[in-house]
Amino acid sequence: MNHLFDVYPLYDIEPVKAEGSYLWDKQGTRYTDLYGGHAVISVGHAHPYYVEKLTQQLRAISFYSNSVQIPLQEELAEKLGTLSGYPDYRLFLCNSGAEANENALKLASFHNGRTKVIAFTKSFHGRTAGAVAVTDNPSIVAPVNYKEHVTFLPFNDAAAAEAGITDEVCAVIVEGIQGVGGIQVCSDEFLQTLRRKCDETGAVLILDSVQCGYGRTGRFFSHQFSGIHPDLMTMAKGMGNGFPIGGVLIAPKFKASYGLLGTTFGGNHLACAAGVAVLDIMKEENLIENAARMGEYLMQGIREIGGYKELRGRGLMIGIEYDFPVKDLRNKLLFEHKLFTGVAGANTIRLLPSLALGQAEADAFLEALQVCLNVEVKGA
Ligand SMILES: Cc1ncc(COP(=O)(O)O)c(C=O)c1O
Repeated sequence: MNHLFDVYPLYDIEPVKAEGSYLWDKQGTRYTDLYGGHAVISVGHAHPYYVEKLTQQLRAISFYSNSVQIPLQEELAEKLGTLSGYPDYRLFLCNSGAEANENALKLASFHNGRTKVIAFTKSFHGRTAGAVAVTDNPSIVAPVNYKEHVTFLPFNDAAAAEAGITDEVCAVIVEGIQGVGGIQVCSDEFLQTLRRKCDETGAVLILDSVQCGYGRTGRFFSHQFSGIHPDLMTMAKGMGNGFPIGGVLIAPKFKASYGLLGTTFGGNHLACAAGVAVLDIMKEENLIENAARMGEYLMQGIREIGGYKELRGRGLMIGIEYDFPVKDLRNKLLFEHKLFTGVAGANTIRLLPSLALGQAEADAFLEALQVCLNVEVKGA
């Protein structure tokens, strides 16, 4: 009998060791990781500095509640503010992406007292009550998840946003690049329209940066290409390189008060040690620049191979859409070429590797893709 509640379709692979952009299974077979376990592995598996920082912290103190001084939280907030270009924003720490969005929505509503939320088609913001209500996937929204306050507008449609964001709106929540929705990049014009309309109406602009954030796109946050400044930014995934941690970056205009937000585990010593180690490594190894460079290298290689319908993304957040279902292609990459990739929808291969991806790993993917696509085309 399976004792686990069976909600995940699993590959018959059991990784037992990982290093950099590689994983090894029980049999000792090596896999190249182009997916980072859903964009989580940001600085590479088992990075020595990260392992050392977490080990030291575990030996010293791993947890005490948010009722005592935890200077690591301040260190994380300060380093995050500096590296991300938001030094005057404050940080609220939590444990996951959904929780970060949940808190951002609450904060918006506390701030302006309103209830209506604008989200966009194909959005994904997580599975907790508030986050799933703004997610455009009815199959994961339970009847108990109240969603009558949410309006979905067409993604990347500036005119619809212009008309739909009124002075009754509490918050607008958008991913700078939709991840689950298929690596759909917000246009600069769209983001600038959202910013302007939120300013005009008093709505709060939330940039869900859980997947497109944390240096992946070649900027710290993907919206930074457009020049706008959101009111709230949510983060998780790459923030702890596998250690669960999430956060909300909060513009100075929001007022904090004791008890307004809270969590038992958020901001614990171990999570903060992981978060600080990630930022130190990103800075020390220039990983944001590496993500931009290796992203362009991969994109160029994919363009040369061709055979796709559309290539989308920025930096190391890449979607390759084909005009056929990619299940077989992904399986071939995994089982024949020992490469982990992801998908979005039926026809898009999704790449979300570590920001430290090297050329050898990128070349391994490109060579495998070339071989698989030749087979695909011949076999079609
Ligand atoms: C854009 C976005 N927001 C929120 C989430 C939810 O994050 P978590 O699974 O950590 O709750 C995800 C997860 O895939 C995501 O991609």
